[in-house]
Formats: sequence, structure tokens, C-alpha cells
Amino acid sequence: MPNRVVISKLGGSKVLEYQKYKLSDSLDPNFIRIKQTSIGINYIDIYHRTGLYPLPNELPICLGLEAAGDVIDIGNNVMDIKVGDKVAYATIPLGAYCEVRDFDSEKVVKIPEFLTNDEAASILLQGMTVEYLFERLYKIKKNEFILFHAAAGGVGLIASQWAKSVGCRMIGTVSNEKKADLALKNGCEFVINYKKENVLERVMEITNNSGVPVVYDGVGKDTFKISLSCLQTRGLMVSFGQSSGMVDDVNLHKTFNPKSLFYTRPTLMHYTRNKEELKISSTSLFDKIKEKKLKTNIYKIFDLKDADKAHELLESRKSSGSIILKT
Ligand SMILES: NC(=O)c1ccc[n+]([C@@H]2O[C@H](COP(=O)([O-])OP(=O)(O)OC[C@H]3O[C@@H](n4cnc5c(N)ncnc54)[C@H](OP(=O)(O)O)[C@@H]3O)[C@@H](O)[C@H]2O)c1
Repeated sequence: MPNRVVISKLGGSKVLEYQKYKLSDSLDPNFIRIKQTSIGINYIDIYHRTGLYPLPNELPICLGLEAAGDVIDIGNNVMDIKVGDKVAYATIPLGAYCEVRDFDSEKVVKIPEFLTNDEAASILLQGMTVEYLFERLYKIKKNEFILFHAAAGGVGLIASQWAKSVGCRMIGTVSNEKKADLALKNGCEFVINYKKENVLERVMEITNNSGVPVVYDGVGKDTFKISLSCLQTRGLMVSFGQSSGMVDDVNLHKTFNPKSLFYTRPTLMHYTRNKEELKISSTSLFDKIKEKKLKTNIYKIFDLKDADKAHELLESRKSSGSIILKT
């Protein structure tokens, strides 16, 4: 029997349990069976484990939204995928932390030959996130300043490279010098250590007192007010995550009216709603990699059974780049 990681209650990393499970005897006609080799760890997995985001099913539940592997069986209706293909996915339903998974064939992408399964699992979710944030939600432009928090994280290092590839002048925030160096090496043009420096003062200095037209904030509670202060009049606040905790309730008038700001709280699933959008996003990401404008950054690989250690590392703020699990 294959193995998986489930939670039976909400809580810290130790609620993750490694256990055997039984595969279904039959395969849905529209599904494929994937022998998963590599599983992406994302901050959303922590929100699910702790209960910050409500879980869609009753407990126990297998966590995870991203994996890559080899197709070992296909349902009767599946035409465009064959046994032996290498595929990856980055979407609901939860359940990626396992060795073998049956998955909707419409929701997977074929892994291009220039990427390994490990690389695909490390970049698909975070990379498609950067794609929609920078290309479709707000199109970043050459020579324009943007502010992006946690610039050396999994999403952050991809954002640094993507911004550089279009000539956009990314100002990134990080919590230490090692992360600052890494963000700069990946193409972030200016780095602010938000443990030591005043972010607003530095942003105004860099932008010649203009502020930025857009802030990408995945840190949440600790950075929300700072982000708003750095925006220009009619700027856009993109609040796409909350690694430091949920943003407190806001007074709409007091918060957004003084500069007529725009606000959005986007999620990848709403930018990859169907096969066409999934293709747009994944193709754009894979093209960047093929053109050598973007590379994967795997910080650490853990065994599936050590998913708790992977969660602890991500929560510790000591990682930079992506973390994956191997089966
Ligand atoms: N909405 C979407 O579609 C979408 C999709 C993917 C990811 N996300 C969000 O994007 C963000 C980044 O995700 P990721 O997986 O790439 O994680 P990550 O950036 O690798 O890790 C989170 C980073 O947040 C920073 N941070 C600041 N305060 C923190 C705190 N109190 N505790 C922990 N970390 C803190 C840390 O960087 P410093 O040490 O440099 O501060 C840490 O390394 C998350 O908020 C995630 O939920 C959103």
C-alpha cells in the first residue's frame, strides 16, 4: 500500500501523520493515476494545517496542492495524456502529500523536457502565482518601480527574476542580509532589510518621493500598513498572502480613501479557472525557464515522511526559495 501524510486535527507541525492508505480499485474515466515523485511545499499548506484557512472536507485530510510525477494509468475518456508522461499540478482539491494519486486530467500540465519532476514541483504553483500577479492582475512594466515583500522566499525569488526579465525595477523586502544577497542575485534591483531599515523612507528615497504604483504583499499582518504608506495616489495594494498572520479588520474609508487606493485579495485558483487559463499561465512560466530568464531555486528536499520538518523550516523564516518532499 502507498503512503501519505494526513492531519486528524488542526495544530502545529506534529499533527502531520505518515500513514498507509488504500488506492481505489477503479479509475474515474476523466482521471489519470500519477506515481508522484516530488511534492511542492507551500505556505498555504501551513494555513490549512493550522486552520487559518478552513478545510473543505472533514478530518482526517491529506494536505498539499502541488506535485509532479509519472502517469501510470489513464481513465477511458482521457485522450491527450498517455502512460509514461510526466505531469504536474498546482490546484485543489487538497491531497498532494501522497505517493500515488488519481487526479483530474484537465487540471494537470505536461512537464517540458527541460525540467525534472523535482524542479516542476518546486516551481509550478509559485511560478504561476508570479505569472498572474505580474502579467494579468497588474502588468508590470519596464523601468517601473514595484514593491514586493519577502523577496527571497519561494514566490519572492521567482518574482525577482521575472521582474528583471521585463526590466521592471523591483524593490524587495527581506529579514536578513543573506536573503538580501540572494534576492539581489536573482534580479531584485533594491533590497530593504525590514528588520533594520525604515521601509517607507527607503522606498521614497529610491523612487524620488513618488512611491510605487503597486505593492505585492504576501506577509500580511506585519506589513499591511507599511505597504499602503508606500503606494502612490490611486496605487494598487495586492494582498496575496499572510505569512505573518491575517490582516486586522480595516475601516474602508480611513484605509483607502486618503489616496483613492485600489485593493485586491487574489488567489491562484481564480486565475487558473479552466484548461485555457492553466495553459496560459503554465506556458508563460515554462517559456521564461526555457529562455533562461528564470531558474528554479530548490532550497531543501525532505522525505515525504518528514513533512513536519519541511513545515517547521518554512515557518522558521530560515528558508529561501522552494522546499519539496520526495516520495
Ligand atoms: N494568493 C496566491 O495565489 C498565492 C499563491 C502562492 C503563495 N501565496 C502566498 O505567498 C506568500 C509566500 O509564499 P511562499 O510559499 O513562497 O513562502 P515563503 O515566502 O518562502 O516564506 C514566507 C516568508 O514570509 C516572510 N515572513 C514575514 N513574516 C513572517 C512570519 N511572521 N512568519 C513566517 N514568515 C514570515 C519570511 O521572509 P523574510 O524572513 O524575508 O521576512 C518567510 O521566509 C505566502 O503568504 C503565501 O500564502 C499566495
